[in-house]
Amino acid sequence: MNLFDVYSLYDIEPTSAKGAYVYNDEGTEYLDFYGGHAVISIGHAHPTYVNKITDQLNKIAFYSNAVINGLQKDLADKLEQLSGLQNFALFYCNSGAEANENAFKLASFSNGKSKILALQNGFHGRTSAAVRATDNKKIQAPINQGISINYLPINDIAAFENELKKGDVCAVIIEAIQGIGGCYTCDDDFLIQLSSLCKIHNAFLIMDEVQCGYGRSGDFFAFQQSGISPDIISMAKGMGNGFPIAGILINEKVFKAEIGMLGTTFGGSHLACAAGIAVLEVIENEHLVQNAHNMGEYFKEKLLQDIPEEIEILGRGLMIGIKFPYTTANIRKELLFKHHVFSGSSGNPNIMRILPPLSINKSQIDQFVEKLSIVVSKIQKTVAIH
Ligand SMILES: Cc1ncc(COP(=O)(O)O)c(C=O)c1O
Repeated sequence: MNLFDVYSLYDIEPTSAKGAYVYNDEGTEYLDFYGGHAVISIGHAHPTYVNKITDQLNKIAFYSNAVINGLQKDLADKLEQLSGLQNFALFYCNSGAEANENAFKLASFSNGKSKILALQNGFHGRTSAAVRATDNKKIQAPINQGISINYLPINDIAAFENELKKGDVCAVIIEAIQGIGGCYTCDDDFLIQLSSLCKIHNAFLIMDEVQCGYGRSGDFFAFQQSGISPDIISMAKGMGNGFPIAGILINEKVFKAEIGMLGTTFGGSHLACAAGIAVLEVIENEHLVQNAHNMGEYFKEKLLQDIPEEIEILGRGLMIGIKFPYTTANIRKELLFKHHVFSGSSGNPNIMRILPPLSINKSQIDQFVEKLSIVVSKIQKTVAIH
């Protein structure tokens, strides 16, 4: 049977991985500064993670959400402790798109409205309302276009106020640090004002922390730097370090649960929760949120110091965009095939995205920057010769 051909693939097949490295069958080592698209939070094949999932698999992997699963509450309690968020309830699902889809439904059930405001260059997933909220017409099918949407510029509070004033906005969805958009960040002031405008105009503020959350920004959630309290927070990627687990955190001061309003078969399975608990234990024990902050600062300094090119650094913590005065596709290819380093692209061809595991250390950052600087020097020389 053929695979449905929707991705352009690199000719590389990782067959094992450990920490910040992945390996192919021949044992070639690749430094992973992409984390499989921001998914690898605690590092590949972490022993705590492997043991917890293995133990759980030997007990019970799954049973229906119609019965009690104590692991769901254990994970929720640990998440409350590490994030510091109080008065939020957790609904489990399986992917970032599904998390946002449930967030929109909850918002719409609650205020009876249906219009969404989102950021230009934002990304929220590929399902119905999530893809509609994503500012990319190419991935929206006609069936997705029924939902009313407005894409507004990042940090333009006047544009948001103008729309919110009309009174018909159900929800505003925002990435505090834009992923595919290229690591552009929301100003704290923008988030504070937006949060208060949403309250005034009976619209719900959904913070999409699918990519920038779970410690990656150097705070547990990226919006927390601004001090706001959103209505809904969506999360996925780093939550399971590769195991599909996602969820929304729902502000209990704002929403009242009703039986049957949301639902899922697989969400919050025993196995998914075991993976999620292991991730949080490692984040706590290895101080990975602090490490993301510290290594992010070190990384930025090192890049500015060692890269022989006019670059702009975007993002925060270990969610870094490096903006070059030219396109980065060749840099990324050369890094991968010649120097065996994975990095990420973004919607802006001049911005490469760096999303390493949160456990990355200085010597691995040094290796990355050294290799990047060799590649950039070579490209500069080619440009000069032409
Ligand atoms: C910010 C953001 N939201 C939502 C999603 C969708 O997540 P998933 O691919 O798990 O559905 C992504 C995926 O890249 C994302 O970056």
